[in-house]
Amino acid sequence: AQLNVWARIAGKQYFGSATDNYELADKPYFKQLSNTLDFAQITPSNSMKWFATEPERGNFTFAGGEEIVAFAKKNRQLVRGHTCVWHSQLAPWVEAGNFDNATLSTIVRDHSYNLVRNFRGDFTHDKSTGMSSTAFNEDGTFRETVFYKTIGPSYIDIAFHAARKADPKAKLYINDYNIDGLGPKSTGVINLVKQLKKNKVPIDGIGVQGHLIVGHVPTTIKENLQAFADLGVDVAITELDIRMTLPVTPELLEQQKKDYQTVIAACRAVKKCIGVTIWDWTDKYSWVPGVFDGEGAALPWDEDLKKKPAYDGIVDGF
Ligand code: XIL
Repeated sequence: AQLNVWARIAGKQYFGSATDNYELADKPYFKQLSNTLDFAQITPSNSMKWFATEPERGNFTFAGGEEIVAFAKKNRQLVRGHTCVWHSQLAPWVEAGNFDNATLSTIVRDHSYNLVRNFRGDFTHDKSTGMSSTAFNEDGTFRETVFYKTIGPSYIDIAFHAARKADPKAKLYINDYNIDGLGPKSTGVINLVKQLKKNKVPIDGIGVQGHLIVGHVPTTIKENLQAFADLGVDVAITELDIRMTLPVTPELLEQQKKDYQTVIAACRAVKKCIGVTIWDWTDKYSWVPGVFDGEGAALPWDEDLKKKPAYDGIVDGF
């Protein structure tokens, strides 16, 4: 059986993939992404980000995101929104404006509200929307983004409240990387979620991105996911890929298979881990080679859309 079939048998809501608009023009790619035996959930990898959705203040452009949602709806796939507030891939005006606290707070509120409101009801079933991405430094302190520097940690409260108001049924997640295993950054997220709950800020889940390296997958993923779940929130693996230093070798592919199995088995073992999304499914469109010099081959299908051992690793993990 195929990936989403195994995920469902394991009691998960979905197995899914990220995608980007221009990739949908690739016919064989389109066909496989539509296959709900493998993928029952889609995340837009770029087209709901700030630069794409509010390129100028108050000028909201949702066509790219809507195209992905229409694709998913046609296939009866769930959609995860991505993302309300992130310091990266921001529209330049947000930083260039040198806004004061009150003004930037309004900007964060309006952006989050309008984005989630536009897609109200589209974040179906698990109704997930990645809220605030990568808010933390590796040591668990807050990242000094324009939002943190201007507003302080309450920029997160503002975004969550606005998103809840825009679509009360959408599940709201805090989403970050390098929070796969136990460690200071994961502790930072735990403390934030406790604080948000104490302050009655609506938070439903923690998104563990899962941008990992072959042979270096943390050994404490299961314990960490459980620690997150013990806060009373859902957990999802939202952006899984496991990259290697190129060139690809049979040994690396075997290790990658084991590593995928390890991550999936950790999610499987934690009841409140609701699903897994890979950050695209074929090496043809992976973001890795463009960002990590000399690394790549991070996904379960190769550049020719052929399944790699990693595919069976996922099956074995479930
Ligand atoms: C990546 C996209 O896949 C790329 O196309 C883009 O150039 C940069 O961003 N963490 C995130 C995602 O939350 O939004 C990032 O996506 C990968 C890292």
